[in-house]
Amino acid sequence: MNKREFLRTLGSASLGVMVAPATLERYARMPYAELAQQDAFWATIRGKYRLTPDYINLENGYYSMQAEPVLDAFMGHVRRTNYEASRYMRTAQVPDKLRVRTRLAGLAGCSAEELIVTRNTTESLDTVIAGYDWTPGDEAIMAAQDYGAMLDMFKLQARRYGMVNRVVSLPHDPRSDDELVQVYANAITPRTRLLMVCHMVNITGHILPVRAIADMAHARGVDVMVDGAHAFAQLDFKIPDLGGDYYGASLHKWLGVPLGAGILYVRREKIEKLWPIYGDSAFADTDIRKLNHTGTHPVHTDLAIDDAIDFHESIGIARKEARLRFLQQYWTRQVRGVPRIVLNTPSDSKRSCAIANVGVEGVKPADLARELFERFRVWTVAIDRAEARVHGVRVTPHVYTTTAELDTFVGALKALAA
Ligand SMILES: Cc1ncc(COP(=O)(O)O)c(C=O)c1O
Repeated sequence: MNKREFLRTLGSASLGVMVAPATLERYARMPYAELAQQDAFWATIRGKYRLTPDYINLENGYYSMQAEPVLDAFMGHVRRTNYEASRYMRTAQVPDKLRVRTRLAGLAGCSAEELIVTRNTTESLDTVIAGYDWTPGDEAIMAAQDYGAMLDMFKLQARRYGMVNRVVSLPHDPRSDDELVQVYANAITPRTRLLMVCHMVNITGHILPVRAIADMAHARGVDVMVDGAHAFAQLDFKIPDLGGDYYGASLHKWLGVPLGAGILYVRREKIEKLWPIYGDSAFADTDIRKLNHTGTHPVHTDLAIDDAIDFHESIGIARKEARLRFLQQYWTRQVRGVPRIVLNTPSDSKRSCAIANVGVEGVKPADLARELFERFRVWTVAIDRAEARVHGVRVTPHVYTTTAELDTFVGALKALAA
């Protein structure tokens, strides 16, 4: 983004001016890594959210609350669809949704013909998993650290069709991308058809080298499905550059859309072979909309995607990613190496962003989360997954998190570990 564009978006009249015009120019010229540390700048972003004074929310991985301008716009969409009722649905819904889908495709860097708006990552990825014509003995690869709903969907296919799931386990602190590529490569056999890989592991925040894994898998004739639940709108990337065949993400996570919106990207050549879950003879086998038969659904959520993109772009993805990574590094640096504190997130800063996971030796994750909340008013979530070797609390700051809040958290963690 050049300076003029930055001034235009950051000063976007539709959202209200985020930063006073006199200070804009200084921030516009600032390198992202430096801007990431400017608490005064981020305080203006924080001012766009309505935050509870009752506790510090470090559990923004579940979903992001909407910024106030997005929430206001969303309420307007609810009112409009309620007011115009079926006339809205019959005359304006389709073109409005197409506009939103096209804008999302721009954000994702793909064609609108390769992207649909779903309810969430679960619907997106389960549509792909269930869309394969599995035959007995076919194989799929996934990791123990993947999300439970997708692992369950693969188990369902195994029960139903006799396909076989090969589950690998990821190192928490790899020395190289190649180490991770090899973990997946070792599980491929002549029967492997599909490999699922997380762009960002939700329980540890580990960012995986998706491009390298996809290139390796494609060289062996294996399709690649990427779970981007947490990566989309947290990391600065374009979906096709990752090299996957399918990509699913939730927009209520890092794009700050109201609950209940996601995307599914399917590479053009892969659309025809996927079976839809719901019958829809209106679309050709090669048309991605065949996978998007939602029935009547809360269209006002889809409409608010436009407003959430406005807000997201008014900050800029590179600035957002830099701030989120800075915040995570700000607190993890202070506790790495402290006796009894165990970090379950890679030490290499390129391999993580907002999310990290921390445990205290001898303390159950549920007890740690409870103590943090009851004694220190810090809200996190306990992760206790033996098969994934992850025991700790997941800590997820957001763009509105302050370093002072993280100082409170670090103090609490050190006190509990002492
Ligand atoms: C890695 C990962 N995949 C999939 C999902 C499912 O997302 P949703 O519940 O929005 O469908 C999540 C949710 O946290 C996740 O972390």
